[in-house]
Amino acid sequence: MTTRKILVTSALPYANGSIHLGHLVEYIQTDIWVRFQKMRGNECYYVCADDTHGTPIMLRAEREGITPEALIDRVWQEHKSDFDAFHVGFDHYGSTNSAETREFAYGIYNKLRDSGLIESRAIEQFYDPVKQMFLPDRFIKGECPKCSAKDQYGDNCEACGAAYAPTELKNPYSAVSGAAPEMRQSEHYFFRLSDPRCQQFLREWTTGGALQAEAANKMQEWLGSESDSKLSDWDISRDAPYFGFEIPDAPGKYFYVWLDAPVGYMGSFKSLCNKLNTPSPDKGRAGEGFPSPNFDDFWSPDSQAELVHFIGKDILYFHALFWPAMLKNAGLRTPTKLCAHGFLTVNGEKMSKSRGTFITAQSYIENIKNTEYLRYYYAAKINGTMEDLDLNLDDFVAKVNSDLIGKYINIASRCAGFISRKFDGVVATHNQITGNRGSQLMGIFIGSEELIADAYENRDFGRAIREIMRLADRANEYVNDMAPWVLAKQEGQEAKLHEVCTVSLNLFRLLTLYLKPVLPKLAEQVEAFLNIAPLNWSDTDQILDGKINEYKHLATRLDPKLIAAMTAANTETLTPAPSSVTVAGENTHSEQRHAAHQQSVTKAEVAEAEKDFEPFISIEDFMKVDLRVARIVNAAQVEGAAKLLQLTLDVGEAQTRNVFAGIKSAYDPEQLKGRLTVMVANLAPRKMKFGMSEGMVLAASGDEPGLFILSPDSGAQPGMRIK
Ligand code: 2FM
Ligand code: ZN
Repeated sequence: MTTRKILVTSALPYANGSIHLGHLVEYIQTDIWVRFQKMRGNECYYVCADDTHGTPIMLRAEREGITPEALIDRVWQEHKSDFDAFHVGFDHYGSTNSAETREFAYGIYNKLRDSGLIESRAIEQFYDPVKQMFLPDRFIKGECPKCSAKDQYGDNCEACGAAYAPTELKNPYSAVSGAAPEMRQSEHYFFRLSDPRCQQFLREWTTGGALQAEAANKMQEWLGSESDSKLSDWDISRDAPYFGFEIPDAPGKYFYVWLDAPVGYMGSFKSLCNKLNTPSPDKGRAGEGFPSPNFDDFWSPDSQAELVHFIGKDILYFHALFWPAMLKNAGLRTPTKLCAHGFLTVNGEKMSKSRGTFITAQSYIENIKNTEYLRYYYAAKINGTMEDLDLNLDDFVAKVNSDLIGKYINIASRCAGFISRKFDGVVATHNQITGNRGSQLMGIFIGSEELIADAYENRDFGRAIREIMRLADRANEYVNDMAPWVLAKQEGQEAKLHEVCTVSLNLFRLLTLYLKPVLPKLAEQVEAFLNIAPLNWSDTDQILDGKINEYKHLATRLDPKLIAAMTAANTETLTPAPSSVTVAGENTHSEQRHAAHQQSVTKAEVAEAEKDFEPFISIEDFMKVDLRVARIVNAAQVEGAAKLLQLTLDVGEAQTRNVFAGIKSAYDPEQLKGRLTVMVANLAPRKMKFGMSEGMVLAASGDEPGLFILSPDSGAQPGMRIK
């Protein structure tokens, strides 16, 4: 078999949000595929980076009072540590805000411009006079021109579904500052995709085998026919202020974030090449056994290497049209394959904060700890198509416990002890395996190699797992039938016992080899236990030999209580009851990136930004909030709640109110009794795990630790309205 050269990427996550289980569908599946390729002996590199540019990141940094650079550095650390915990083994994890990416972005832009594919023209755009910045359409909000629903986006109404131009909105306002926007002209730069050269190339490229059939069809729809092309020029510039790369020959104009994001694939790979070409003890496992990679071998137009991008189906437009057109016209190679996947649902529904199913990587790590369980579950469900993947939490527990623990680990745990105790840790030799059944079974296991490899290669990991679990069932039948625990008690059965346990451990070794792309950490532990070198795909026909190490517990059953704790923890942080005056910093549902990419601004980008700003509210809006002085009649700990105290509040009504407040870290309940404070009295009652919460107590908090509830001046009485 010839060695393939493969460069693999996953989509670059935005540098202003946390990694969550939806993101991990992609990183885990890419990682499994990469590990499989490496085990096959291919020269495979996996690079990724944070996607750091754009308006939302600039505004978020501003709101936090830090520079965008400080923000993206912090987020980079968080992302990297999440990926490490889930064993996503990037060979390099970079940032688009790098010298390498900048250089490539400039190089590509210059080539496009020199080929006559860049054009500048004035466009009319809404301008925020307070923020002094141009606003993309979706940052304009207002009343729907059709149904008058308030607070609708500039392009369509979420209430009645009408589509319109932002200029049609009634009473438009800037979502950034609340100011009334003005129409102004600005010079923008366009990549001329309408040029016949681009059109023709894309028509060919999108049908040339790089796309899944479903994606290729979609592209033909988006491209339109030759006589009626639907592809229009792409606006690639943004005006200052913008966090990004300034366009070399256009001061004050910046590359739109989506221009340099995919260039980040090249930048990150270049950084990897630099790293591997610099002598250092810390090169990791990248390209182990291969000479350091040469950048041009992977990116020149005649490159023989494969370039494989894993992406969500929502960003196909960028990767199947803009990106190949950029590469082709800049004299570079184009992608070999785009592997698009669907979104994650949890318990059959969109991830939801109120249901506690919007689960961050961090929260999974804190509650479940073993990240390979999720890798296994995702693998069992991934099939290489663009269908959505459902994480059913009950099924997750059942599958981990029945497959991983009940079928796989169980083989070793039932047989290893006999080898240690009765045979001094030494397995039987090849010649001592005389029983037909054992030898046949080992033959069947070895013979399944191609089938399993084919499933991995085609990203049908579900098929690979089903095949592996079928083998595990056969191994368990063998152990059950041979019953080593019975043989161990029978005189004269030592040789049989030795053979059965050795066969079983050999089967276990093969299962480990096949599962290794999915369970790299567990495989490492098994390799140490079996006292063998790191398993590679070509090791299928080897058998155990000599001494193994004592069996230590490899994995424990997944306790459903941990899942309940994880969803409760995610639900709890969302309750309006706790803490600060501003309920800030929450990610919205939009983290599941939506398709709306005909626009120059993605919904994802707007939604990201939306978290950062609130429009002005009117006095009427403010008056809707019924703020009251409340006396804390009683305060108590809540059993099982990490952050909450239970408050009994007198707000001048016949009955007291019960409120759960997230202030446990800052207050001893005794201190609170008798104090006056401020509560939101007309917040809809909310059923929490610990009971009903009938309002919200206000408290201030900042960047430093500390939480401070409010107190009215002396003389205020319970029930007084604050206005
Ligand atoms: O949609 C997103 O989350 C983008 N940050 C993905 C970028 S992928 C690549 F082009 F960089
Ligand atoms: Zn409407």
